[in-house]
Order: sequence, then C-alpha cells, then structure tokens
Amino acid sequence: MSKAKLSKRIGLIEPSMTIGISAKAKELCASGIDVLTFSAGEPDFDTPDNVKEAAIKAIKDGFTKYTAAGGINELKDAVIAKEKRRNGLDYKREEVCISAGAKHSLFNIGQVMLDEGDEVIIPAPYWVTYEAIVKYTQAKPVIVKTKEENNFVLDKNELEKAITDKTKMIWINNPSNPTGATYEKEDLQFIADLAEKHDIWIVSDEIYEDIVFDGYSPVSIATLSDYAKERTLIVNGTSKSYSMTGWRIGYTCGDKEVMAAMTKLQSQSTSNPTSIAQMAAVEALNGSQDSVEMMRKKFEERRNYIVDALNAIEGITCVKPKGAFYVFPNVSNCYGKEYNGKKINNSMDFAMVLLEEARVALVPGIAFGEDDFVRISFATDMDTIKKGMEALKEFVSALK
Ligand SMILES: Cc1ncc(COP(=O)(O)O)c(C=O)c1O
Repeated sequence: MSKAKLSKRIGLIEPSMTIGISAKAKELCASGIDVLTFSAGEPDFDTPDNVKEAAIKAIKDGFTKYTAAGGINELKDAVIAKEKRRNGLDYKREEVCISAGAKHSLFNIGQVMLDEGDEVIIPAPYWVTYEAIVKYTQAKPVIVKTKEENNFVLDKNELEKAITDKTKMIWINNPSNPTGATYEKEDLQFIADLAEKHDIWIVSDEIYEDIVFDGYSPVSIATLSDYAKERTLIVNGTSKSYSMTGWRIGYTCGDKEVMAAMTKLQSQSTSNPTSIAQMAAVEALNGSQDSVEMMRKKFEERRNYIVDALNAIEGITCVKPKGAFYVFPNVSNCYGKEYNGKKINNSMDFAMVLLEEARVALVPGIAFGEDDFVRISFATDMDTIKKGMEALKEFVSALK
C-alpha cells in the first residue's frame, strides 16, 4: 500500500471517464477479438513525408539541443506568417509562444491567467480537458449548455445569463470537439462584443480549423474588433491539420505579457518543446499544404457517409457537423431498453454494452458533459466505418 500523501491540488481533477471503455477495448483486442474503434482523437493518416524529412534533417544537422523556452524564431515566424495568410492577423514574435501541444498551451494559459474565485465560461458539450485545466487552477468552470436543435452553437441569452462580475474568460472551440459544431461570423461577433462589454478574455481553440466541410471557412474571433485582437488568445497546433499528434507542437498568439508569463512558466517546468519537432512544424506550416487538403477531403467523404448511416437508424438522430472529425448522435431513445438482459440507462451503459455485445468502441457523451449522446470519431477508414455503422444498426434494432 503506497504511503504517498498527494497534494490537495491534484485531487481537484479526475482521470478521463473513458478509461473503463478503453481498458475493455484493449482487453478484447488482446484476447484476439476484433473491435471496430471509433474513439480516436487523432487523424488516422501518416504524418506527411515533407514533415518527416524536415525532422530527419534536423537530427542530421545536430539540431538536437535546448532551444529558447518559448520556441525557436523560425517556428514563431512560420506561425506569424500562417496567421497573416489565414486570418489577416499581425503578430510579433513576442506575441507568440510555442508549447508542447495545444493542450500544453491551454494548460499554461490557465496557470498564468487564472486564480481561485475566477470564473471561466465553457460551452458544453466541451472537450473535457478544458474543465480539468480550469479546475486545476482553483478557478470555477461555468458550463453553458448548447442544444442539438441549435447545432450545438451557444445560445446568446444563455451566454449572457452566465456572466457575473467574476467572469474572467470564455473558452471557445471552433470547430468543436466533440460535436463538430461551427460558429458563423455573427455568433462570434456577439461573443466578442459581449466580452468587450464585460471585460472578458477569450481563448479561441482553433485546432480543427483545417478540417471543415461544405465550404465552411472559420473566421477567427480575434479578427472581429480591436478589443477581440487584444484580448483573444488564439490556441492552435500541428496535431490535427498535419496528423502530428505525437510530435507535440502547439502555439498561442496574443498579448505579449501573457506570452512572456507562459514562456517563464515553460522555462521553469518543461523547457522548450522538442527541437526536432519544432523544425518539423516549420515545414508543416511553410511547406506544401496538399496533404492537408487530401485529409480534409477524406474526412468529408466519411462524414457524409456516417451522418446518413446514423440518421437511417431508427432511434438515433445526428446533426451534420461542418467541422472536426467527430459526430455526436443522440442515443437517448435507447435508454430504458436492454440488450441480452443488459440494461442501458445512460451514455456510459450504451457505450459499454455496445462494446461488449457488438464490438464497437465509441465514447460516451457524459465524458463531454452531455449524457444523451455518444461521440463517434471518423478518423478511421471507410471499411471500418461501414462495418461499424452496420453493427450499430443491428445493435439498436435488437434493443428491447
Ligand atoms: C479541442 C481540442 N483542443 C486541443 C487539443 C490538443 O491537441 P494537442 O495537444 O495534440 O496539440 C485537442 C486534442 O484532442 C482537442 O480536441
């Protein structure tokens, strides 16, 4: 029995709720049973060759030592050029901080911006890490629910009602994980204006900006007013656009004092992101974008198939998302029913019984603060998607 006496702080956050499901899926795979997996939070494509070659070159050139804690100038310049190209935004090097993944960027924002008593508005369903990061600072996450009938876009009245004199920040994610929800310019303008009225900072997580469908082109909220430019911290990274999840490169653009504080924190904790991965990220941002478009097209084909297949299942409804690589169908019509004597009363039961009985792994909506839904990732091949949707259909129709 361990004698460890852990800090009170670490008790503020919980491990991922999906651990039970992942453990069960691994157990089934290890015993030779094929599982159709729809839980991935990362593209299934390989990292593009030009990016890999840039990393190999960095190793051969001996670019393998410590770098500046907040990232190398070449990468900051590549980020600056990208923000100019994509959003027409101007940043200086001191307004950029490179971190070990966008998750690290967000964690550091929390650490340098939030204190006990501060409130942070988070639209739900949300990427669960947002809540954990905020809780770990002892600030309070204020969850504002969105509705399926509004395509999971934040309702203006609900947002306004959630603001108090303690509201310090709002965290938005466009396109969103887990719903794939996308914001139109006027939705973002409303948020930017409200933020200005109440002196609120904005964190804009734009990590899925390249994975967009039906011609949707996301606008960065930082472009919408002088205030929004000054008070938005744009978070992005190379994980999703370039299939570089393992390389761990994220970045933040915004206020230079915030960037200096994040850099100071990195200098006393993680130090620089990996030198080799930084060089690879320079090539990802500056080099050919053909692979980004290839992946986007594949994701769109899969989204089209999966949304139609889900809506054809009686008892399931699914909003057609315009971004990211997830769908978030409503399965609550299945609650109160059972499969082979196993009762399904919530999203965790649905995911567990589906895995045990039909060998399909997905993520229960409760992991994102919404129990009537499940998250299905289509970052997997078409064959798996077809088999998985067939298995799901049989499973739902056999519920009694
Ligand atoms: C909404 C969102 N933001 C940020 C991240 C973090 O990406 P990374 O830390 O790999 O850059 C993820 C990863 O799943 C995500 O879904």
